[in-house]
Amino acid sequence: MATSKEAAREAAALSEQLHRHAHLYYVLDAPELPDAEYDKLFQRLQALEAEHPELRTPDSPTQRVGGKPLDGFTKIRHKVPMLSIRTETDITPAGASAFDARVRKELGLAEDAPQVEYVCELKFDGLALNLRYEAGVLVQAATRGDGEIGEEVTQNIRTVQQIPLRLRGESPPPVVEVRGEVYMKRADFDALNERQREKIAAGQKNEKVFVNPRNAAAGAVRQLDPAIAARRPLSFFAYGLGEVTPPEQGGPSCETQFDWLQQFAAWGFPVAQQTARARGAIELIAFHETIGRQRDALPYDIDGVVYKVDSLALQRQLGFVSREPRWAVAHKYPAQEQLTEVLAIEVQVGRTGKLTPVAKLAPVFVGGVTVTNATLHNEDEARRKDVRVGDTVIVRRAGDVIPEVVGVLPESAARPDDKRGPVFTMPHQCPVCGSAAVREEGEVDYRCTGGLFCGAQRKEAILHFAARRALDIEGLGDKLVEQLVDAGLIRTLPDLYKLGFTTLAGLERMADKSAKNIVDALEASKTTTLPRFLFGLGIRHIGESTARDLALHFGRLDGIMDASEAELLEVNDVGPVVATSLRTFFDQPHNREVVEHLRACGLHWPEGEPAARTPRPLVGKTFVITGTLPTLSREEAKDKLETAGAKVAGSVSKKTDFLVAGEEAGSKLVKARDLGVAVIDEARLLEILDKGLPEG
Ligand code: IVH
Repeated sequence: MATSKEAAREAAALSEQLHRHAHLYYVLDAPELPDAEYDKLFQRLQALEAEHPELRTPDSPTQRVGGKPLDGFTKIRHKVPMLSIRTETDITPAGASAFDARVRKELGLAEDAPQVEYVCELKFDGLALNLRYEAGVLVQAATRGDGEIGEEVTQNIRTVQQIPLRLRGESPPPVVEVRGEVYMKRADFDALNERQREKIAAGQKNEKVFVNPRNAAAGAVRQLDPAIAARRPLSFFAYGLGEVTPPEQGGPSCETQFDWLQQFAAWGFPVAQQTARARGAIELIAFHETIGRQRDALPYDIDGVVYKVDSLALQRQLGFVSREPRWAVAHKYPAQEQLTEVLAIEVQVGRTGKLTPVAKLAPVFVGGVTVTNATLHNEDEARRKDVRVGDTVIVRRAGDVIPEVVGVLPESAARPDDKRGPVFTMPHQCPVCGSAAVREEGEVDYRCTGGLFCGAQRKEAILHFAARRALDIEGLGDKLVEQLVDAGLIRTLPDLYKLGFTTLAGLERMADKSAKNIVDALEASKTTTLPRFLFGLGIRHIGESTARDLALHFGRLDGIMDASEAELLEVNDVGPVVATSLRTFFDQPHNREVVEHLRACGLHWPEGEPAARTPRPLVGKTFVITGTLPTLSREEAKDKLETAGAKVAGSVSKKTDFLVAGEEAGSKLVKARDLGVAVIDEARLLEILDKGLPEG
């Protein structure tokens, strides 16, 4: 079939639009089209190309993904070698002036000669690439390799949305090679690792978790299957030039590095916005300092900055020493990863009772500070990383985040088991107070259940108890609690009521008037209500409304403290998680002691009779209602079921016990049948509500 001119014209127009919108979206971060509109254009082009395969050019926006897995990479020789760059040995800001002094000396500049102009760039922590464009179309992407010979990775690089398949703008040069760094943003890296962890958890043995964004990026670029590479989100920054057609033969005429960077941006490449021009050493130092402050907030890793002499004429004059240009230098920041030895693994308890395994380390300088502790996050992470005492580990401290153990050095992990420390296990007792530590279903963390007694949770427990919606002890805020606990005046809640005026007034920065107010507030708080008191205990999952429901249902505190889980489940809105939490809390002898002491201090509230027990025969059963019932509205049916203790869900799942189906029941009915869920009609529902379920 001959390509109609019309089809060719439409394809070209679509291609143009798609390139423009992809650039706006991926490079400039300023999309103009809703995603769905973009997709429509994309699908239209795909359809046209399917009809007229000859329109499917290599630079078509549809040609990013595709291509078959490779057996290996082809080696290619770089037309212009990819050089390395000298690293300034002095990593203090003053290192910048050493570079400026060398440049001035090499150029033979007198002391009173004008300042040299530089371009300051970020030193991205990724993988260097050479991208070759012929007549504006990407024809080859290659890794740096040893600088002379690299590997062809065109297929994979085509999937990087930030890299143009075709240079933007009019009259592209016959040949140009743009160089830069392919890297992975930290958020993309975290999301990728999250997916990797899920795959591993699902039993996929040959998947792994990546140690850092650079490794993940390198792995993606050198992935033999482009379909997999496409799922590893990569980004790109342009910063340099390889072979290029000279100006007299149609190449661009740039005279400075800065001009080139602007040319790259005009062609559609991302260029880091932090890039700046600087005159002389003082401005280089200022740049190093500014970026040093911004480093942690950048969405990607950098390991330093790069200074380049701006003028290409001066660059040529300076030339090279061995394989390094004299006109550029890398000026690094303190490394964010270091190796060190694990001395012990401890478990720390946070203010809210969360248990965190922490590796105690031989002191090591990382990310600008000396680190002796690094988090292992939680049980699953600790198990996955399998860190043992005596292991050499990679410690990472990026930004203000707490230092973490990235993993065990492979050599160290490979030692025979009997040469390593024991496998770490999470304790089932709180290391601070000895109460039970539990990990709830669906949670990653273990928590101490001795909230009222545990030393680690003391401050938090007191603040919660004193809060306005709990015992409402005015004046007992953050600072004062801190002061009281640190001075050893309060260990558990009852100690509050032993504070006298003299003790309080004797505290630093405490006026007599304030001390008196606090004594009064404490006295007033003794007359309270059961819901407030219960909420004030800070039991996990017990919010104000649950506390109210519990109080209403049981009438008295002892009823709640002694209720079985089954009895607790009868309370409105109390599910298994809340019931277990209450039970565990009151099973800790220390918590009960605290409650008794509070009562002995004079805390009191009106107690009542348990609410008349409406029978709740359907506790623990889940119903779904669908279709139109003959007499009841869906709301009425739901009310009746809930009053009888049932749970009414919106969709059918394996956990559904009954589907109540009326007229015109649709997909829910189909699903229920598929899953073997019992289907009943209104008549049967009313019977169940009236007589309960038959036994068994
Ligand atoms: S310029 C002749 N600029 O650092 C100068 N390199 O050791 C060639 N890098 O392999 C390099 N950011 O991977 C240059 N803004 C930047 C850079 C940068 C990162 C990497 C690049 C190169 C290595 C040099």
